[in-house]
Amino acid sequence: MSLIDDARAVRENAYAPYSKFKVGAAIRSASGTIYTGCNVENVAYPEGTCAEAGAIAAMIAGGDTRIAEVAVIADSPKPVSPCGGCRQKIAEFADGDVAVTLATMDGIVQRTTVADLLPGSFDADYMSRV
Ligand code: THU
Repeated sequence: MSLIDDARAVRENAYAPYSKFKVGAAIRSASGTIYTGCNVENVAYPEGTCAEAGAIAAMIAGGDTRIAEVAVIADSPKPVSPCGGCRQKIAEFADGDVAVTLATMDGIVQRTTVADLLPGSFDADYMSRV
């Protein structure tokens, strides 16, 4: 079973009654454990959370802190693209330039990396004088 299969499985649990756009995300941590997350919307729309954020929260709760690989899937015409906030959240825990696989439900797959998704990212080095 690939990481995209894990993302596809957890997508079924997405709570997306407002957008109707279900997303699933899976993370393989540096320790090899797989963590998954789906989007969880709220009637107060800004309170909704993305699938990637859910997977990261599960990883941290599970005691892992380094991401080795990410997969995201949605029923979109082209591979779903993580939002800006999720790119920053993934970068926070990325163990190097990790592979990110983006996929559609009908089998279109795009392989990219965190660095390609978030060039010029703000990181802790900028705060080295603090
Ligand atoms: N969404 C995600 O969960 N991940 C993405 O990469 C893109 C967008 C969610 C947020 C919201 O629940 C729905 O998709 C529509 O924006």
